[in-house]
Amino acid sequence: MTERLQAPRGTFDVLPEDWDARTALEHRARDLLESAGYRRIETPAFEATELFARGVGEATDIVQKEMYSFDDGGGRSLTLRPEGTAPISRAYMEHGMHKLPAPVKLWYLGPFFRHERAQAGRYRQFWQVGAEALGSDDPALDAELIVLLHTLLDELGVRDLRLLLSSLGQPGAREAYRDQLKEYLHAHADRLSSDVRARIDLNPLRAFDADHPGTREVMKDAPRLIDHLDAADAEHFAHVRALLDKADIAYEIDPTLVRGLDYYTRTVFEFTSEALGAQSGVGGGGRYDGLVQMLGGPPTAGVGWAAGIERMLLAGAEAPHGAAPVELFVALDDGGRREDAFATVVAARRAGLHAEMELAGRSLKGQLKQADRLGARYVAILRAQEAELRDMSSAEQEPVVPDEGEDAVSPEAIVSAALRGLRGVA
Ligand code: HAM
Repeated sequence: MTERLQAPRGTFDVLPEDWDARTALEHRARDLLESAGYRRIETPAFEATELFARGVGEATDIVQKEMYSFDDGGGRSLTLRPEGTAPISRAYMEHGMHKLPAPVKLWYLGPFFRHERAQAGRYRQFWQVGAEALGSDDPALDAELIVLLHTLLDELGVRDLRLLLSSLGQPGAREAYRDQLKEYLHAHADRLSSDVRARIDLNPLRAFDADHPGTREVMKDAPRLIDHLDAADAEHFAHVRALLDKADIAYEIDPTLVRGLDYYTRTVFEFTSEALGAQSGVGGGGRYDGLVQMLGGPPTAGVGWAAGIERMLLAGAEAPHGAAPVELFVALDDGGRREDAFATVVAARRAGLHAEMELAGRSLKGQLKQADRLGARYVAILRAQEAELRDMSSAEQEPVVPDEGEDAVSPEAIVSAALRGLRGVA
């Protein structure tokens, strides 16, 4: 026996009934972002592995454990994109966008790939909508992007939304802080979990995430990066907060907010929703002023976010769905010819109507039932010479009058009759 073929673990089919909600979300995001000056960009689904190793960071979980990498046959390693910020920074350099007036505002929507443990809300192929603004370090851009994501999540009815905010400062200040934190952890090593103790020098920040009671107790008084920002970074962060206050956006300062990507500098943020359970992050981002340069380009400021389509749909209000109703269904009665039915749907579609014809050999009764299921407004019933038009809301049926000088009813005459009915003209 061969194994039954199924979609790979952690992936899913987007079925016809799923598309109304996804399309509505896409249109919302597009309208919102384009009205703030963001223009759409799409980068390839795979890139040179090195782009993510350098951009996202060698030490991150994404690069160490979660990338789908493969040899392209020419000895070159490619990777299915796990995220969009590094590719967009690459495209920004490649197309000389640094010569465009700053800021360059871009948005995207597409599939991304991470080899994560699959569970509700966490997939191996998932979709993101994202926005990036490059070329300016103005705190108004950080605030603008946060407000835009807030608006999108709010419009989608995402429940129990919280906004966590922090600042990581610049790499220099971060290094100095790490040393300070290591010193503090070493001084309290006897009260830490063995796990945290073993990794003090490797990853001291992890201590903030620990569940171990002794460690948690120690971390209450640990030095916090946010209190050790240099003057320029602290001022930048104060500006971002003041602008969010101006926009009436509530946030919580979370000095332990760690995002799983290495490129962040200064502002970082994450929107969470209780509705998502364990996978509470619905969207997040931050500033990445060193990324373009790290990839070999000129010094370039950047800030942006990405939000998971599936998580937004899971945490959002039920979107209205259902296919657009059929305006004209073409049925065949005794003597009616399939060629005429075909010509009639073609003429109706050319006239801009949503039209369908019988394609499963049903009886007339079965055809009327099918038209009803499709929500059809009118049904044209074709016979040998004549045709009738049935108004499905009133069940009234009227003969279609042939064109002058003709015996048989033409497809155009049927479409004209339907159009008159749809427009409410007698
Ligand atoms: P991220 O936080 O890794 O950020 O991902 C953004 C969002 O993508 C998450 O909040 C979540 O909704 C969704 N997501 C991530 N992984 C999965 C998964 N395995 N299954 C389902 N949804 C997932 C970034 O990707 C950054 N590039 C964001 C950014 C843009 N920062 C600056 N600009």
